[in-house]
Amino acid sequence: MTGRSNGLPSDGAWDSTLALLREGYDFIPRRCRRLHSDVFTTRLMLRRAVCISGRDAVAQFYVPGRFTRRGAMPTTTLTLLQDRGSVQTLDGEAHRQRKRLFLGLMSPQSIQRLVALADARWQARIRGWEARGGDIVLLDEVREILCGAACDWAGVPLGEGELEERTREFAAMIDGSGTAGPRNWRGQLLRRRSERWIRGLVEEVRQGRLSVPADSALQAVASHRDADGSPLPAKVAAVELINLLRPTVAVALYIVFAAHALHRNPEWRERLAGGSDAELEAFTQEVRRLYPFFPMIGGRVLQPFEWRGHRFEEGDWVLADLHGTNHDPRLWPDPEAFRPERFLPPEPPDENALVPQGGGDVRAGHRCPGEWITIALVKGALRQLCGAMRYEVPPQDLTIDLSRMPAPPQSGFILRNVRQGA
Ligand code: HEM
Repeated sequence: MTGRSNGLPSDGAWDSTLALLREGYDFIPRRCRRLHSDVFTTRLMLRRAVCISGRDAVAQFYVPGRFTRRGAMPTTTLTLLQDRGSVQTLDGEAHRQRKRLFLGLMSPQSIQRLVALADARWQARIRGWEARGGDIVLLDEVREILCGAACDWAGVPLGEGELEERTREFAAMIDGSGTAGPRNWRGQLLRRRSERWIRGLVEEVRQGRLSVPADSALQAVASHRDADGSPLPAKVAAVELINLLRPTVAVALYIVFAAHALHRNPEWRERLAGGSDAELEAFTQEVRRLYPFFPMIGGRVLQPFEWRGHRFEEGDWVLADLHGTNHDPRLWPDPEAFRPERFLPPEPPDENALVPQGGGDVRAGHRCPGEWITIALVKGALRQLCGAMRYEVPPQDLTIDLSRMPAPPQSGFILRNVRQGA
């Protein structure tokens, strides 16, 4: 069924919430194909939504100041991911000033330090896996590697035996974010624990009872001043520190996808073992383009504008299709094929075409400030997988269920008989 609403093509359904849950990543692309349009209206949770897809759509969505993220995401997702009071919920000067806090932590040296901390943990784990023998679940192991490295990097102390518990909390927030059911409730429960923990650390730093390196994220968050000159309330400081730690743990999903891509394209193993930085980067970019992460991002119009003959009014709810844009055949010929060569020779990809972490300019808008960290950690992991260890991939369920968000391979990616060396 199709129709028109306010002059725009419409998917014609009374409400499409169930279809969105069923179709997941393919919900917007499928309707764009059917309606031969990059823009259409639908109803989700009984609310009118305008869905937009493709490079031009993303460019419109990321014009600075045009959209707010407030009121644009289900509360169940918001409270597990960015949360109230976070940088993502701010606009204008308040947003720019808070964003500086994040961007200030993303210097090449700072990212290098994080990668070196992760490398050391990979090395220790590889020795442990070899000594233990048998099978490991890569997703679980890499989450712990990254949680440990991110806490060291951020100046967050972890007590004896605490790594497993904290990793579980961050993993639950990630796993629960795409649903409103029991996985979400578990995430909310564990998130409250993390918040109490991090809030306590912020307060200790502020009271001088815990000293951490001056250039650490914990110190930066504890002493940050907002646009009005005031320090962050302890609760918001905790939210922002979690906004650095949780997504760093989430990079484990891309690392598992990279292992999956290596398994399916074994000719790349040797190429990458050679260690060419350009090839590592190209492989990583293709993993970020092809594999599913955030299907879409929501915003509400702040400044009315016209696009494709349609007027977007203040308050309109718009969903920009990230996954579909990464798979748009106009931008990416044969889009379902895994072809790192697309990114060779290395040129910075178009900022609104490769958009797994949002589009536009990172300083001016809401684009993810963690992209450099993500790319560096995946490249570091590929160096380990191809150059520092051998392993078998036993038969297992590698299905990636595109109706689920996030969508790791069902098995979590099992490795067998890990040994050191290339
Ligand atoms: C695991 C891979 C990651 C993915 C797929 C991802 C994806 C995204 C997306 C789609 C957005 C929303 C952009 C928007 O609102 O338009 C975002 C925002 C954000 N991400 Fe990431 N991200 C990742 C890793 C990271 C990392 C490693 C960090 C920090 C260390 C990070 C911190 C943030 C923050 C603070 C924001 C809010 C930015 C703002 O509103 O200005 N993310 N991310």
